[in-house]
Amino acid sequence: MTTTPAMRLGVCYFPEHWPEAGWADDARRMVETGLTRVRIGEFGWSRIEPEAGRFDWGWLDRAIETLHAAGLGIILCTPTATPPKWLVDAMPDMLALDRNGRPRRFGSRRHYCFSHAGFRAEAVRITRALAQRYGQHPGIVGWQTDNEYGCHDTVESFSPAAAAAFRDWCRARYGSIAALNAAWGNVFWSMEYPGFDAIDLPNQTVTEANPAHWLAFKRFSSDQVAAFNRAQVDVLRAGSPGRDITHNAMGFFTDYDHHTLAADLDVLGWDSYPLGFLEMFRFSEADKQRYAHQGHPDLAAFHHDLYRGCARGQRWSVLEQQPGPVNWARHNPAPLPGMVRLWTLEAFAHGAELVSYFRWRQFPHAQEQMHAGLLRPDSAPAPALAEVRAAADDLARLPGGAPVKQAALVFAYDAEWVTGIQPHGQGRSALWAAFACYSALRRLGLNIDIVSPTASLDGYALVVVPCLPIVPDALVRALADSPAQIIVGPRTGSRTADFAIPETLPPGPLASLMGLTVTLSESWHDRMVLDGDGWTAGGWFDHVEGAALPELTARDGRVACWRHGRVRTLAVWPQGSVLDAVITASARDAGLPAAALPEGTRLRRRGDRLFRFDYLNAQVAIEPA
Ligand code: GAL
Repeated sequence: MTTTPAMRLGVCYFPEHWPEAGWADDARRMVETGLTRVRIGEFGWSRIEPEAGRFDWGWLDRAIETLHAAGLGIILCTPTATPPKWLVDAMPDMLALDRNGRPRRFGSRRHYCFSHAGFRAEAVRITRALAQRYGQHPGIVGWQTDNEYGCHDTVESFSPAAAAAFRDWCRARYGSIAALNAAWGNVFWSMEYPGFDAIDLPNQTVTEANPAHWLAFKRFSSDQVAAFNRAQVDVLRAGSPGRDITHNAMGFFTDYDHHTLAADLDVLGWDSYPLGFLEMFRFSEADKQRYAHQGHPDLAAFHHDLYRGCARGQRWSVLEQQPGPVNWARHNPAPLPGMVRLWTLEAFAHGAELVSYFRWRQFPHAQEQMHAGLLRPDSAPAPALAEVRAAADDLARLPGGAPVKQAALVFAYDAEWVTGIQPHGQGRSALWAAFACYSALRRLGLNIDIVSPTASLDGYALVVVPCLPIVPDALVRALADSPAQIIVGPRTGSRTADFAIPETLPPGPLASLMGLTVTLSESWHDRMVLDGDGWTAGGWFDHVEGAALPELTARDGRVACWRHGRVRTLAVWPQGSVLDAVITASARDAGLPAAALPEGTRLRRRGDRLFRFDYLNAQVAIEPA
C-alpha cells in the first residue's frame, strides 16, 4: 500500500515544445525521478486555438493521455498570459498601455490590459473551452489560472479601458464626487473634479499626482486582477468540480493584494527563484557575494510564510522552483550542489503541498534558452535531477504535522502601496521593513507566520507590526486582546484609508495601546546614525510624546525604542543592530526559545521535527523537535 506523502513533487512541462515521440519517455523519467505532478499548458494558446474559433485539441488530448497513463496528476493552466497574434490583431486595443501611454506590444507575453472587457470575454471563452474538454478528465487534478499576474510590471495599465473602469470604480466607492474630492483633499492645488467622468488616471502629471489618487488607482488595479481571475475561477469551478484551483504568485511582488486574490483560490502558489531574486533585489553586496549560489537564507522562507498566510486554509505550493541558473537576472550563477534539495525541504518545513520544478528540459529556442531545467536540451540529466530524486526519497520518510506557532508578523499590501507612493525617505518600504523583521526573527531560530491585519493573533507569543500605515479596526482589537509581546514599527497608524494623516495624529487608533503620539517624522540618510549601547539606529526618526517610557536611548539622549507595558515602539527604521536588540528583548519577554544562530544557519519546527538548514554549506539536518 502506498501512502500519500505530506508534500508532492512536480515539474513544469511544455509538451508543445518537444516531438510527440518523446512524451512517453519524458513521463516515464518524471515518475522515475519521484515526481507525481506535472503542470502544463500556460503558454499554449496559439497551439490550442491556431485561428479564431478553430481548436486543435489533438495534441493536448494525447499529451494529457500520455502523462495520465504514466501515473502523473496534471495541473492544467489556462493560457491567458499569452494571447495569440490573431487575437491581438483582431482586438488591438486589448494591449495594456504603460505609464507613458505606450502600448505593451505583442512579441513576448502578458500583453493584455486587465480592464479590457473584450479580452476578459476571450479569457473566459478559452477557459470555458478547456474546462468543457478536460474538466472531468481523471488525469486533471488541478487548474492554474493564467501565469504570474503582474509579471513584467503588468498589473497597471493606463489604457482608455482602464480609465473608464477606474471612473466606475471611484463612483462605486465614493458615491458622490463631493465625497471623493473631500476624501482625497483635492482642494489642494485646485485638483477638484466636477464629476466622475472628469477623473483621469494618475500617470503623466507634471509632478507627482495626489497620493490618494495613486492609492485609489492601485486598489482599483488590484481589484481588476482579482476580478479577471475570478471570472476564470467561476468557469473552472462549474466545469471541473472537485479540482483545486491555484495561481502562481512571485517574489517581492506587491502590485496586487494577494489576500484578495487568494480568497478565490483553493491553493496559492508562488514561484521560487532564490538566486535570481538575490541578484535582482535589494540585498547587501556582502550577502550577494556570500549567498550567490544559495540565495539569501530568508528569501524563500519569507515567501513561504507570506503566501501561507495569504492562502485560504493555509494551503500553498511552490509552483516553480529554480533548478539551476535562470536567464533573467543580472548574473545567473548555478546553485551550490545540495541547494535544490535544501530548497525543497525548506518548503516542506513550512508546510507546502507541492514543489514543482521549472522546467523539465531546457529549451534551445527563444527567450529562455539559458534557463536550466531538470534535463539538458539533449535530454541528459542536468545536475538538479539527482537532487530531486534524493528529495523525493527524503519526503517519503517525513511525516507531516502542523508548523509550530511562535511569532506573527503583520503585513498588508496597502502598506507597501502607501510607502511606495510616499516613502518620505528613499527606500523606506513596508515590504522591506517586513523582510528585515522576518530575517531578524529567523536569525533567532523562531517560527514565523506572516499574517494579514485581519487575521487572528491567537496562539502567538510575539507579534511584530513592522510598518502598517493603515490599521484596520480588527487589528486594533486583536492586539488589545492578545497577551503577546508586541513590536510596532514606524509609520504604523499614520494614514487613514484614503491617505490622510489621522485627526489624532499617528499612530491613530493604536495610540492608547502604544502609549504615545508621533508629533513629527524625519527620514534620515544612511550617514545619520544614533549610537547606543551595543546598537546603532537610523533611517527614520519619530518625535513622540505620551506615557510610553524610553527603552533604548542613544548617547545623545534621543530615544530609538519606546515601551508601554508589553508594547515596544521603534522610533527608528526597523533595520540593523537596533532591530536585533528589540526583537531579542521582546522574544525573551515572550518566553520564546530565541538564540542567535551562526551565519547561514536557520531552524524551522514542523510537527515533531526540527529542521536545521545550513545555507553556507547547502546541508540539511532533521532532528526530533
Ligand atoms: C517565471 C515564469 C516562467 C518562466 C520562469 C523563468 O517568472 O512564470 O514562465 O519564465 O519565470 O525563470
